[in-house]
Amino acid sequence: MRDIHNIVVLTGAGISAESGLATFRGPGGLWEGHRVEDVCTPEALAADPELVHRFYDDRRAALATVEPNAAHRALARLDAEWPGGLLIVTQNVDDLHERAGAKRLIHMHGELLSALCADCGDRGEWEGRLPPGTACGACDALSLRPDIVFFGEMPYRMDEIDAAIRNCDLFISIGTSGAVYPAAGFVQTARYVGAATLEMNLDPSLGSVYFEETRIGAAGTLVPAWVETLLQSTQSSPMSR
Ligand code: APR
Repeated sequence: MRDIHNIVVLTGAGISAESGLATFRGPGGLWEGHRVEDVCTPEALAADPELVHRFYDDRRAALATVEPNAAHRALARLDAEWPGGLLIVTQNVDDLHERAGAKRLIHMHGELLSALCADCGDRGEWEGRLPPGTACGACDALSLRPDIVFFGEMPYRMDEIDAAIRNCDLFISIGTSGAVYPAAGFVQTARYVGAATLEMNLDPSLGSVYFEETRIGAAGTLVPAWVETLLQSTQSSPMSR
């Protein structure tokens, strides 16, 4: 038993799968119908902006058809009730964590409901379609693009994320294949600082060996059960697992 005060939760596409959003890899995954290089790189945006914008327009539109699931709701409950430090770091660009009520949240790979000016770097809320050539409200350049961190670009707020992991006692990874860095390496930092590490996934991820414990199953079942146990334990013995 280790004392747990600060928790970092990393989530990936698997946590939104039970809400009806496709994951990236595997059968039926988003990358099955598209090559990553064609829709998720700065080069793709320059070569075929119509295709790239349409890909993210479709995914933005899909948000209106889905709802947060039990796993999102459980993490929002943890956020509201956990008395210690907590940071939810999501690789997901959907808004299901915040719709469930999570507040201590970082979207490290950007957000579908945000637009980024490729000229001045301004970021702002965006709904509906975002055609290429849309004017930026801050600088007037016709250069708004989806606010998605493409391969080859720096994820958002890495300093804050790194500091939280270095200061955490428990690192938990939910529904991510461990195929994309830097997120795939977070577990190694957590291990380095002596944090407990736990993975929840339908299948062992590529980085499974780095976790002390892996729970195999659907996030919608595993996460609420884990949150319930964790919160119960703080009532009997504050800040311990
Ligand atoms: N519960 C738990 N895990 C699940 C569920 C579920 N209901 N459904 C699927 N999974 C697991 C899969 O087994 C897989 O390991 O979720 C993982 C999803 O993996 P990916 O599709 O690779 O998604 P992710 O890890 O989030 O991708 C990382 O890759 O292309 C990029 O930028 C994109 O943020 C994304 C990054």
